[in-house]
Amino acid sequence: LKEAALASLSDVKDLAELNDLRVKYLGKRGALTEIMKGMGKLSPEERPVMGQQANEVRAVIESLLKEKTEAFEQAILQEKLESQRIDVTLPGRVVARGAKHPLTLIVEQIEDLFIGLGFEIAEGPEVETDYYNFEALNLPKDHPARDMQDSFYITEDILMRTHTSPNQARVMEAKQGEAPVKILCPGRVYRRDDDDATHSHVFTQIEGLVIDENIRMSDLKGILLFFAQEMFGSDVEIRLRPSFFPFTEPSAEVDVTCAVCHGTGCRVCKDTGWLEILGSGMVHPKVLEMSGYDSEKYTGFAFGMGVERIAMLKYGIEDIRHFYNNDLRFLKQFNRR
Ligand code: PHE
Repeated sequence: LKEAALASLSDVKDLAELNDLRVKYLGKRGALTEIMKGMGKLSPEERPVMGQQANEVRAVIESLLKEKTEAFEQAILQEKLESQRIDVTLPGRVVARGAKHPLTLIVEQIEDLFIGLGFEIAEGPEVETDYYNFEALNLPKDHPARDMQDSFYITEDILMRTHTSPNQARVMEAKQGEAPVKILCPGRVYRRDDDDATHSHVFTQIEGLVIDENIRMSDLKGILLFFAQEMFGSDVEIRLRPSFFPFTEPSAEVDVTCAVCHGTGCRVCKDTGWLEILGSGMVHPKVLEMSGYDSEKYTGFAFGMGVERIAMLKYGIEDIRHFYNNDLRFLKQFNRR
């Protein structure tokens, strides 16, 4: 048996054949196993002799099997290494590197600026309820000012938010009348506008809200002047023009001087030398009350700025549609800024 096993093991060709042999000799029904089973029938003198021999044969076969298996595995590995060899001298493939979108850059810059002033970032949903988008901001169902913001409705009570102001109501409600509130809410907003060089049905706003005791309009003006000068340069001025928003009283639109001109002239800037960049005002007492704030004790200001406007002014971009066309020739220009 030993001779036969050794002979067949020596001309085994692969792992599968090896395994067959393992079964043939050492398996449950294998030749050697049968011999071991038959030992009971032997006389007490023969048994230890036979047992010892059988064990020896088993040991030899096992060690040979092991040796052969390792040899085969080594050969397979070697073959793999040969066939999958990597040529490290080949030139590499250039991986196209992405870059941040210019709007992201501006939003991050503005966030950093306001975080430095102690604001916290608070984001809200783009799909908003009529309540937060309008009602909680003192725009009841029949209010004519709703026309100022032609909306994309999803159902009668759900719409794409038309501004980031619903976050004012959301944050106030969550804070349950506690002051101070100092938040900044960036995000996309949607309006049913026909797209052209200065209008886009989707655009980006950043909302700011501050509520505490003794907050005054001069605080609003001071913060906005600081913002404008950090953003556009220390020689920039702002002006507040009286305006109307249902959720602020008094309300003001804010312009900055457009000192940043490119090449042949100030394309983005108007002839007047001023460009409107945001709406703002003192939070309407009704809005404070509706969201659980004592309007006798607390006052606040809010503002909402158009991020595209700011980016257009800062980078000299003349068409708002560039931000949403995903043209790499446009986007790549902001790679290292
Ligand atoms: N939500 C207003 C808009 O979209 C801007 C605004 C925000 C005005 C906060 C006043 C206070 O035009």
